[in-house]
Amino acid sequence: WFGHVEPAAKDPILGVTEAFLADPSPDKVNVGVGAYRDDDGKPVVLECVREAERRVAGSTNMEYLPMGGSVKMIEESLKLAYGEDSEFIKDKRIAAVQALSGTGACRLFADFQKRFLPDSQIYIPTPTWSNHHNIWRDAQVPQRTFAYYHPESRGLDFAGLMDDIKNAPEGSFFLLHACAHNPTGVDPSEEQWREISHQFKVKNHFPFFDMAYQGFASGDPERDAKAIRIFLEDGHQIGCAQSYAKNMGLYGQRAGCLSILCDDEIQAVAVKSQLQQIARPMYSNPPLHGALIVSTILGDPALKSLWLKEVKGMADRIIGMRKALKESLEKLGSPLSWEHITNQIGMFCYSGMTPEQVDRLTNEFHIYMTRNGRISMAGVTTGNVAYLANAIHEVTKT
Ligand code: LMR
Repeated sequence: WFGHVEPAAKDPILGVTEAFLADPSPDKVNVGVGAYRDDDGKPVVLECVREAERRVAGSTNMEYLPMGGSVKMIEESLKLAYGEDSEFIKDKRIAAVQALSGTGACRLFADFQKRFLPDSQIYIPTPTWSNHHNIWRDAQVPQRTFAYYHPESRGLDFAGLMDDIKNAPEGSFFLLHACAHNPTGVDPSEEQWREISHQFKVKNHFPFFDMAYQGFASGDPERDAKAIRIFLEDGHQIGCAQSYAKNMGLYGQRAGCLSILCDDEIQAVAVKSQLQQIARPMYSNPPLHGALIVSTILGDPALKSLWLKEVKGMADRIIGMRKALKESLEKLGSPLSWEHITNQIGMFCYSGMTPEQVDRLTNEFHIYMTRNGRISMAGVTTGNVAYLANAIHEVTKT
């Protein structure tokens, strides 16, 4: 039956973790996957999560959640993305369902897009998180790309981006990273977001925000929602994928939310019912435990402020490691500019290293990262930063 099945290509991100785990070297370093580590290189469970777990333990039955997920978790998620006092929440204009983290939220949206706007396409930034391409491909939505990253400056290609927005057909769908762009760590400034939003209005484009890192860009989830808030102020209807993998460290719990701002409550009810209809044959209903943790944290002022402190702590450690990596490279006398390490934000540094240089890091130094040159700063520690800098210097010397 299955003799014709060839092995699938390794995932460019999760395949790196597999290779890292298989390497017996004591020197090995994993700066591949975007998963936060403490300064000892250990996975972190936030104190607010531990406390929420204590409160949740034994407090509920294990019944199915509704197809759309936990109502309380959705309510809290919407406040986080759209603002505590959002008029759209009050007017019940947002169709929202709990989703299997950010991937699940994007996939639900892509399937919804295919089902209800079958002739539409999605514009995806160059570059983007590799799984975005898989998600819209499997949902059979044709993909176009738009300019985003400027390799020479290692910053934003704002002119190219604006041109592509202008040149896309009226009413196109665009995938935007709300903050802490993955893989580049390059975000538009507030002023640039305003211009982008304006141009979206002119062209009547639909912005779909993937917000996988709310809190990781600036350390403050409110500030990191700024792009979304600008689009809302400007009167756009938006879609939004939220994930609690990174900002609450709930990676394996698959806790997330998909929301779509509609014209009115009637439309929102219809859209939500269709999203549930899409979820039902895929996984019936989403998992309970992560949703309970999220709603317990966000629904309790003391736990929420502990969470805010802890997200900021994670973001600050990464900022510190950016400085340390840049300074180490400079101390080694690297003739290259490493300014972008500290200019970029979020979990990743888009180093500018070539796939061949990355291969050398892996083969000669047991340093594991994606071949596009992305360094997960979350895996850099005071213990490995000098080793990493030295290896980068060795492979980038001309
Ligand atoms: C990443 O980009 O490393 C993370 O979002 C993890 C993943 O699933 O790819």
